[in-house]
Amino acid sequence: MTDLAGILADLRIPVVGAPMAGAAGGRLAAAITAGGGLGLIGVGNVATVDQVREQCGLADGQRVGIGLMCWSLPQNPALLDAALEVRPVVVSLSFGDPRPYLPKVHDAGAAVIAQVGTRAEALDALDAGVDGLVVRGAEGGGHGRGVVSTLPLLQQVLDLTDRPVLVGGGVGTARGLAAVLAAGAAAAWVGTPFAASAESLFRPELKEAVVAADTDQTVYTRAFDIAQRFDWPEIYGGRALANDFSDQWAERTDALEAAVTDELTAQIKQARVDADLSLAPVYAGESAGLVDRPRTAAEVLDDFASFRDHLRAAQRWLD
Ligand SMILES: Cc1cc2nc3c(=O)[nH]c(=O)nc-3n(C[C@H](O)[C@H](O)[C@H](O)COP(=O)(O)O)c2cc1C
Repeated sequence: MTDLAGILADLRIPVVGAPMAGAAGGRLAAAITAGGGLGLIGVGNVATVDQVREQCGLADGQRVGIGLMCWSLPQNPALLDAALEVRPVVVSLSFGDPRPYLPKVHDAGAAVIAQVGTRAEALDALDAGVDGLVVRGAEGGGHGRGVVSTLPLLQQVLDLTDRPVLVGGGVGTARGLAAVLAAGAAAAWVGTPFAASAESLFRPELKEAVVAADTDQTVYTRAFDIAQRFDWPEIYGGRALANDFSDQWAERTDALEAAVTDELTAQIKQARVDADLSLAPVYAGESAGLVDRPRTAAEVLDDFASFRDHLRAAQRWLD
């Protein structure tokens, strides 16, 4: 089976590109691996087997991983089989119980990682037998838990296990990467900066919005899922750029549950097609405020590469 610790230790830049449905397709994942990190393809809750195969084909034979959402797999278990066809080195089984899928992924020779958002979730994933954890704090982009921030969770979870711990949520620059590596993380798990990169599946309007946003312009909410009538378990909201829709509903999700109509659902879905960013969700974390210009995935990784300078500077504390 894949040696996860060994793979991460051998990366030129200890950055794993988070699986991001609608952003991290095969092209982005391959570009991250080619740039010295490890890219993962994101498979969403409404993906089809054909789409998974198409995106895996775009990875062009590069070594990549793939990320699936456990809560939605029972509705379409064929997605896991399609994902394994790309012979991923790592499979992320997040947002739900990974136990039913672990043996199949291990038989396929891939390591399993799970994103966790609380200490209890970390203990449960370790008990399930995952090979590594991603500590994913509330400041992260896209879906996840919204209850604990990255740094407290990282410190807590590093004391729970010797298995590799990666860190997602708010790691957007070389300084952040140096900080989590110094704490003991095996690598960073980076989403938002890559979602805005040239190779991402995000539409140009969405990338521009991420570049323009500051750290205080995101919101964690279930409102977009309620409006689209997605069956995300209630404990998982999503962090997105704040917009007119979230201004109106993010704090009033109970009222939205009661008020949602077919018309509203159709409106939000159409807004996504039209890139109408006053209504459509643009999933991004607080590190949107750390993305200040359009970059390729290789440029994102090159910017992260100066983490070694920050680690060296911190060495003065050893003298
Ligand atoms: C646009 C977008 C889509 C995402 N989609 C997924 C997904 O399909 N599966 C998943 O496990 N995580 C997904 N995430 C969450 C990421 O895996 C990761 O936890 C997060 O991006 C890390 O925080 P950061 O955005 O601050 O780097 C998504 C994140 C973003 C920004």
